[in-house]
Amino acid sequence: MTKDAHKLKFYELSLAEKRRQIAALAELDDTTLAALCGTDPLSAEQADHMVENAIGTYALPLGIAQNFCVNGRDVLVPMVIEEPSVIAGASFMARLAHAGGGFTATSNDPVMIGQLQLLEINDLAKARDRILSYKEELLHEAASIDPVLARLGGGPRDLQVRIISESPVGPFLVVHLLYDVRDAMGANAINTALETLAPRVAAISGGRVHLRILSNLADQRLAKAACTIPLEQLAFADYSAETVRDGIIAAWAFAAADPYRAATHNKGIMNGVDAVVLATGNDWRAIEAGAHAYAARSGRYTSLSTWGKDSAGNLTGTLEMPMAVGIVGGATRVHPGAQAGLKLMKVESAADLAKIIVSVGLAQNLAALRALATEGIQRGHMGLHARQIAIAAGAAPDQVNKLAEQLVAEGAIRVDRAAEILKEWSQHPNGNSD
Ligand code: MEV
Repeated sequence: MTKDAHKLKFYELSLAEKRRQIAALAELDDTTLAALCGTDPLSAEQADHMVENAIGTYALPLGIAQNFCVNGRDVLVPMVIEEPSVIAGASFMARLAHAGGGFTATSNDPVMIGQLQLLEINDLAKARDRILSYKEELLHEAASIDPVLARLGGGPRDLQVRIISESPVGPFLVVHLLYDVRDAMGANAINTALETLAPRVAAISGGRVHLRILSNLADQRLAKAACTIPLEQLAFADYSAETVRDGIIAAWAFAAADPYRAATHNKGIMNGVDAVVLATGNDWRAIEAGAHAYAARSGRYTSLSTWGKDSAGNLTGTLEMPMAVGIVGGATRVHPGAQAGLKLMKVESAADLAKIIVSVGLAQNLAALRALATEGIQRGHMGLHARQIAIAAGAAPDQVNKLAEQLVAEGAIRVDRAAEILKEWSQHPNGNSD
């Protein structure tokens, strides 16, 4: 089980040992482990069935975030990301949160919104009332479209009509179909339902149905995570716990008040969110679109998270955002790594996955704010960044750490300097053994 996962220092282990420990902790069989680690990756043939003009696949680093406890369950989280510090940051903040009981996460029913745009209607209010008077019939028709989904308890939930009174082409009507897609991301289910209903809606309204497409502003399908970081967990180096806590709250206030900062603040949240979304084969563009639209729902773009303190002085955080992820269908089904990632986390529903993702987003946000409010972001970044520079300059695996250390020590973390050092080492090989 993953019960003691937080006690392991993964960063001290070799690649092989990390894999062995992960497999043991999460009880993964060899096939699942190989899929997870990319040693048995998505094949070019599989890719050829997924997209047009495929010529191969493209790999990214996959790491495992530790210390996450979501609703009382310890979970190892796969993250796919090219940016250094993200996985370490999430794991470290999850450890601080662990001391406060971990993350408490909730999610709404997996209800997506599909939109029909209705043009060429003279009396919009009359057409709206007419459509609404056929609501039961339309919902009934929508319910018969996907019997499998219906059997699983999904299907249409509501039908709403909105009047868009001003647009570049004049006023028009929009019908929203609210559709419970259960464990799917739901794009196919809802788009099929919309296309099926469209002719009937056109006939009822007397207008012409133009677009039939889901909305990525999935504000019916929200996930929310909360955590409490015990005050004493926040002190480090010369920073008192109160200084760190108040610094984090002030940093959040900046994002709450200013869209320029909020964009970066939310990007930090998405570092964590997208990495898990990608690792599970989900559509990260949909999640990005939903997140930023939700952040602007008041008419002013703002922070997706909140930070404050409780009556005991502990730091408290919340994150709420749309989370349209699935565990069935699409790439989640086809991609062996995505399947393995879901197994690693032992998620049994899309809602379980959503709760983990939003917890990772909150942890990632905390990692960024804690660094920014204290020593700055570069200090933590530089070591890892230097390793990337070392690799980019052509360092062999046994040279990477040494070269990175030298670059940091020189304060010159640049490819040209890395290449220069490698050249010096190749000319004086005796000075270059680890
Ligand atoms: C970098 O990828 C993310 C941060 O800029 C987020 C933030 O500023 O909150 C560090």
